[in-house]
Amino acid sequence: MIRMKNVSKSFRSDLLRRKRIALRGMNLHVRRGETYALLGANGAGKTTTMKLLLDLIRPDEGEIRVDGIESHRSRCRLRLGYIPERPYFFPHLTGEELVLYYAALSGVERRLARVRCDKLLESLGLAGAASKKTRSYSKGMLQRLAFAQLLVGRPEILILDEPLSGLDPVGRREIRDILLREKERGSTILISSHILEDVEKVCDRAGFLVDGGIRNEVDSSGTEVLEVEATGIAAEELEAAKLVVEQIARVGERTRFRLGDEKELEKMNEVVRNHGGEIVSVNRHARSLEKLFVENVSSREVNR
Ligand SMILES: Nc1ncnc2c1ncn2[C@@H]1O[C@H](COP(=O)(O)OP(=O)(O)OP(=O)(O)O)[C@@H](O)[C@H]1O
Ligand SMILES: [Mg+2]
Repeated sequence: MIRMKNVSKSFRSDLLRRKRIALRGMNLHVRRGETYALLGANGAGKTTTMKLLLDLIRPDEGEIRVDGIESHRSRCRLRLGYIPERPYFFPHLTGEELVLYYAALSGVERRLARVRCDKLLESLGLAGAASKKTRSYSKGMLQRLAFAQLLVGRPEILILDEPLSGLDPVGRREIRDILLREKERGSTILISSHILEDVEKVCDRAGFLVDGGIRNEVDSSGTEVLEVEATGIAAEELEAAKLVVEQIARVGERTRFRLGDEKELEKMNEVVRNHGGEIVSVNRHARSLEKLFVENVSSREVNR
């Protein structure tokens, strides 16, 4: 659905007009209906990637297409919805006026816009503030309003630049639920965020942006690990049976191991039984994106 091929982008901003490379030969593919998290340190190029997709800035080289259409064509933009890193709204408009304004911009018929606006403000907990001017909104309220503005036009593709920042835990949960609903509706979502614990609950895949390109991608199904507690066996015996295990703790008679996947568990069961031991418990954990982030993203590019 979203394809970037060999895209490079640099900026010349300081007084000496030195070139700063933001993206260098970047390739990205987000499939239809997929939620893809773009992760990377500050300054890695996440916002730049999103702005390029929206044709707010142009690449130095490379190709950007959305559903096969070049990103600089206006019919491409009609299908995209965007929440910028720091949403700004006309302060003198009320929340309701603002959402209706964006609905009109997206070509939504007036009566339908009214119905959608009421529903969205209600579901985002903004019904009480609908007739208040946005200048009186808190940061979290503005972030929710950004979602109302986004969804009123029912875009197929959502580009969300740190949509969870500034929200309290309840607000984050609400936004997460909205994202899950959008996923169910079949929307394609590209999201950047530093709140990895929330992102990993909604994304199907995540890509780590390092040195101006996607360095590594992880599938959410590939991020599960099993923690197994067993008696009567040691790591060496399991390793001798060609099992890749990591021993993490010994608790009395039991040993806690970490395994890569389900197949390993079957093998382990057999080996443990052959040694007269027993598997006592199995727990599934998502391998945290935070850990993968630290492994994949060094902080050196911050000062690149
Ligand atoms: N308009 C601009 N003028 C000059 N340099 C820019 C501009 N926009 C981005 N850059 C530079 O490009 C690089 C990538 O910036 P970008 O905003 O895309 O990072 P990011 O991954 O979104 O970071 P953050 O997590 O802090 O939002 C940075 O080095 C930044 O300084
Ligand atoms: Mg950014």
